[in-house]
Amino acid sequence: VSLIGKTALITGASSGIGRATSILFSKLGANLTLCGRNKENLENTANECRSNNVKVNTVCGDLTNSPIIEGTMHQAIDFHKKLDILVNNAGIIALGTLETTSVEDFDLLMNINIRSVFQLTKLALPHLIDSRGNIVNVSSVTGIRSFPGGLSYGVSKAALDQFTRCTALDFAAKQVRVNAVNPGVVITELQKRGGLDEAGYAEFLEKSKTTHALGRPGNADEVSETIAFLASDAASFITGVTLPVDGGRHAMCPR
Ligand SMILES: *[C@@H]1O[C@H](CO)[C@@H](O)[C@H](O)[C@H]1NC(C)=O
Ligand SMILES: *[C@@H]1O[C@H](CO)[C@@H](O)[C@H](O)[C@H]1NC(C)=O
Repeated sequence: VSLIGKTALITGASSGIGRATSILFSKLGANLTLCGRNKENLENTANECRSNNVKVNTVCGDLTNSPIIEGTMHQAIDFHKKLDILVNNAGIIALGTLETTSVEDFDLLMNINIRSVFQLTKLALPHLIDSRGNIVNVSSVTGIRSFPGGLSYGVSKAALDQFTRCTALDFAAKQVRVNAVNPGVVITELQKRGGLDEAGYAEFLEKSKTTHALGRPGNADEVSETIAFLASDAASFITGVTLPVDGGRHAMCPR
């Protein structure tokens, strides 16, 4: 897989799957615009990418903010003059049921996981049509299977999957491909930021050995390899897929 000659915009690049994807893309030769909330971590990712001799700019900010989304796209185009690949990776998780989730928490999660993607993708689209580029959305196994206790996250990821398929069909005639990856449990900061303490997280990872057919949680590099494949010309005939990268979890049923 090669991304030489490509320019990519990656959101949520300061940590986790976004950071792993940024570093892999730089190794594969892509110039990058990286977007994230934590300035220090974002610069850290950017410098690691620059060590692979690609051109990188960063935009620090919160994607719930419309002007920041507009500024991000503006700076990406201003710096690189074109866009081939958009990786919609930024996202948050929250636990809770209908009883325990407030409307405000639901709105916040939807704003980050869906609304920001809608707006950023809309702004990117003319550039992606020009370049016959592609989009990879980072979804979740919770988009295709249902789990108790994570209502708004699951709803947001199911919406993301349907967005992926609809947009793939809407822009196929323009040769823009749109795909998603659906990771299972991946070792990142996501769950702890979503409210799990250290002990709870350790227990969650231990349980992942039984909830994933391959007997373990995944790591961010395993997801970034799949993102790079879908974003590359090696996947030139693939559009509208929501591809599980989950150690077989999507195929399992309790028994
Ligand atoms: C990436 O950046 C380098 C350095 O500025 C430039 O020479 C190259 O043409 C860029 N590649 C793309 C695909 O824009
Ligand atoms: C993912 O892909 C579609 C196509 O880009 C895009 O419209 C959508 O906004 C992206 N994110 C989501 C939410 O699906």
